Amino acid sequence: TGYITIDEGFKNTGSTTSDITFLDGEEGILRYRGYSIEDLADKADFLEVAYLLIYGELPTAAEYDVFVAKITKHTMVNEDMRKIFDGFPVNAHPMGIMSALASAMSGFYPDSFDDKKPDNTELHIIRLLAKFPTLATWCYKKSQGHPINYPKNELDYCSNFLHMMFALPVENYKVDPKVSSALNKLLILHADHEQNCSTSTVRLVGSSKANIYSSISAGISALWGPLHGGANQEVIEMLEEIRNDGGDVQKYIDKAKDKNSGFRLFGFGHRVYKNFDPRAKIIKKAADDVLSLLGVNDPVLEIAKGLEEAALKDEYFVSRKLYPNVDFYSGIIYRALGIPTNMFTVMFAIGRLPGWIAQWLELRDQKQAIGRPRQIYTGPTIKDFVEKSKR
Ligand code: CMC
Repeated sequence: TGYITIDEGFKNTGSTTSDITFLDGEEGILRYRGYSIEDLADKADFLEVAYLLIYGELPTAAEYDVFVAKITKHTMVNEDMRKIFDGFPVNAHPMGIMSALASAMSGFYPDSFDDKKPDNTELHIIRLLAKFPTLATWCYKKSQGHPINYPKNELDYCSNFLHMMFALPVENYKVDPKVSSALNKLLILHADHEQNCSTSTVRLVGSSKANIYSSISAGISALWGPLHGGANQEVIEMLEEIRNDGGDVQKYIDKAKDKNSGFRLFGFGHRVYKNFDPRAKIIKKAADDVLSLLGVNDPVLEIAKGLEEAALKDEYFVSRKLYPNVDFYSGIIYRALGIPTNMFTVMFAIGRLPGWIAQWLELRDQKQAIGRPRQIYTGPTIKDFVEKSKR
């Protein structure tokens, strides 16, 4: 009823009110529950930030300990999930596997999809946070032809992930605290970003009262796309290509400006940030710090800097307010931490999981109506049916 207005890509349509994340695109401000992203990335621990997003306030020391203990208890994954996982080909993309496994969890915890049963939502949330990194490391281990590692629960969240990724049975792998701390920062920077494509997907799916596992699985699928989280993989592939092509950044800038080329500068531009992406600022500095701390010399860092400098001088990018986004430098750090390119978007998903969960919970608490956009029909008017033999 009433007039329907089309807002393609929802550029000016708000889908909800929210108490979770504040974002000012003009000023480049990002805050979770009122706390600045700069402070959190510098001082907090990823699970503290997860708690903040999900429960609305930073945990006290006692609350934090209980939260961590609960997560630690659930890091193991049902061995039957392995059977599903084992059926994937060795070169399946980890994002496809993650989405499938997140959805498969609903089969293992069927009390997640019936509102009439006792409300075990908190337990499902803990399970998701706990098992997600474990599942992610399975994908990497499979790609290497290595046996999986079980979680080592005396380790913190990031270190446990790194242990499951990189420890081999034959060596005495020790997590480097510098690597763990860099990962902690990256996960915090990705933890929420208000109504982006994947979060809106989680909320839309959740609005039909689908269970939390299916809603998160849908979010993973949305994040996978190269215009969203998949951009972090595209950036490194693009930088590699530029390097192998002789390092001429201007050639790629010109290609990105040419609308017929079908090529965009990955890691550049943002729907909301029209000044700078505050996450990119922190990540750029972190890339310098982490690489020098670990003694890594990655030639693509220089290419990335050259590309950024040239783009920011170019009328095309300046007039459209296209700046580096969160995905531009993050891959360079992941790479320095030993994480392979096809796992970058999975790293984004591990970071974004608490945000998706918080937004799913908020949607439920707000008792929102099912999301059901309208359309303006532009197809043919009425047609008479013609028998197959007469068409
Ligand atoms: N390279 C070249 N031109 C671009 C780029 C780019 N990366 N981004 C936008 N433009 C141009 C676009 O062609 C358009 O030009 P015109 O006005 O002449 O038609 C103008 O800038 C506005 O772009 P838009 O596509 O209308 O903007 P949008 O808000 O719909 O899209 C975006 C935002 C992030 C999808 C887009 O900037 C893009 O495709 N960037 C590359 C992919 C990327 O880095 N994605 C990660 C986003 S940040 C975090 C995340 O979600 O993962």
